[in-house]
Amino acid sequence: MGRVFVAGSINMDVVATADRHPKVGETVAGQAVHYFPGGKGANQAVAAAKLGAPSTLIGRLGADAFGQQLRQFLSAQGVDLALVKDTANVHTGTAVITIADADNTIVVVPGANALVSAGDVTAPVLAKGDVAVSQFEIPQTTIIAFFKRARAAGATTILNPAPATVCSHELLDLVDILVLNETELGLLAQIELHDTDDPICFVEAARRLPTGLDKTICVTLGKRGVLALVGGEPSLISGRAVKAVDTTGAGDCFVGALAAQLANGKAIHDALEYANAAASICVQRMGAAPSMPTAAEVTAVLRS
Ligand code: RIB
Repeated sequence: MGRVFVAGSINMDVVATADRHPKVGETVAGQAVHYFPGGKGANQAVAAAKLGAPSTLIGRLGADAFGQQLRQFLSAQGVDLALVKDTANVHTGTAVITIADADNTIVVVPGANALVSAGDVTAPVLAKGDVAVSQFEIPQTTIIAFFKRARAAGATTILNPAPATVCSHELLDLVDILVLNETELGLLAQIELHDTDDPICFVEAARRLPTGLDKTICVTLGKRGVLALVGGEPSLISGRAVKAVDTTGAGDCFVGALAAQLANGKAIHDALEYANAAASICVQRMGAAPSMPTAAEVTAVLRS
């Protein structure tokens, strides 16, 4: 079995729930405040670990109380933290999240995540069959260095270009599988997209990406499921009808599950079905990293 290596962010998510989101300049009364482990990198590493893949996280924490709590939590989920450094004079990444009607708004303050460097990704020794995963809450120069090493070792690279940011051609060239939502696709394809658009719009936008047809492109469409282009051929995996309470981390769950399945030697379409089912479980729970499902839970959903 291959292993999953995630170079990415680790955040404490400070979550306030309310009946509705405030307008700009407005204050609304909230219901509750929670402190949930999160950060896109940590969420993806937890998802992969809980689904049975050996999962190593490469990242940074501040030398503070949030850092200690996150280290304890991640270790308890089975994530290998040997390459997570405590960093002096900087705070642990923190996301301030508001949830109302299952939808969220997020402000991320990167803290130590901004210091994850190209030097940090030189330690892991990747091999053929491994899967290297990253996202945009750490510097792109670091991701480039990481993916160059992964490619040289014959590992598969997965990029989740979130939050939406312009991506260099050098980085895109190093990617085997791109997993993105409609906002991120719109930015990279330079086209305006909405989550209500017909799937054909996403196919056309994906074909405009400067990536070439050798890459697999997965567009996550929330409750509508996932649109995948494999070798340029589109297919739609329908979303599962569930009652979402918090969609935070659902995309990360999808990415981590996909990586775990590919590391386990599964074919891409089977891996996508599995990841889609995993994400449908995640949205039914509060919090990001604590919502990641186990393999037994995903299997039960796929059998139902
Ligand atoms: O993708 C969800 C994550 O984005 C949250 O856990 C939050 O930390 C932000 O990074």
